[in-house]
Amino acid sequence: MKGVILAGGLGTRLYPLTHVTNKHLLPVYNKPMIFYPIQTLVNAGVTDILIVTSGPHVGHFLGVLKNGKELGATHLEYAYQEKPDGGIADALSLAQDFADKDSIAVILGDNTTDADISEPVKRFKDGAVVFLKKVPDLKRFGVPEFDPKNPKNIIEIEEKPANPKSEYAVTGVYLYDNNVFDYIKKCDPNFAGRGELEITEVNNFYIKAKKLSWEELNGHWSDAGTFDSLFMANDYWATQKK
Ligand code: DAU
Repeated sequence: MKGVILAGGLGTRLYPLTHVTNKHLLPVYNKPMIFYPIQTLVNAGVTDILIVTSGPHVGHFLGVLKNGKELGATHLEYAYQEKPDGGIADALSLAQDFADKDSIAVILGDNTTDADISEPVKRFKDGAVVFLKKVPDLKRFGVPEFDPKNPKNIIEIEEKPANPKSEYAVTGVYLYDNNVFDYIKKCDPNFAGRGELEITEVNNFYIKAKKLSWEELNGHWSDAGTFDSLFMANDYWATQKK
């Protein structure tokens, strides 16, 4: 399995900090944010990694990550998303050549977790796996609705629902087979009303094909795309080290 980290977007919710550099290079305690998802992949044995990025500060990544060896990557590649806020699925579409025929572990560049995903990575055969976490602020996330007869099945994922249908957020950690690139081609930029190709629509295509399963993410998880979540991520990782 290969690894993909999505680190594009403009980070507008973190202006003025993101006038200085790309969101994913901002500090989370003692490391740039993107070190955390790289570490999660490397710890799971996924060391062939693509970073997709965009926006005015793309050059900063090379200076910080170099060829990735210091972080345990055996191969590090970069891709440039032309429409900087085209959406998560648009960013992921750039990984098609890199993935070749392989499956991919995808992590959003602003997600930090200490969960170990090595077992699900080893077990993965086909379809898609989403990792869920119980959170208090569900309306900021993709939220699954479970089949009342069999909660192992998700019947739909809603992006930022006004009335969340479960207590779980879909985290930004995903495993996909190579069909993901065909599903992305079917995505509608109006799916969630923000003009972006949404990863939630891709996951719903897998649900319709009965090819989506889920795991609970065991460990701390937070995104860091808002001032509050960035602060909480810093606080968590700083406390862990003491
Ligand atoms: O953090 C988990 C959540 O991430 C999920 O629950 C949602 O279903 C998913 O849509 C996403 O929601 P956000 O609104 O938090 O996504 P955001 O636009 O902040 O983008 C998250 C990361 O994805 C960002 O740090 C970099 C990458 N990205 C995003 C966009 C819009 C790209 O690489 N390119 C893009 O065009």
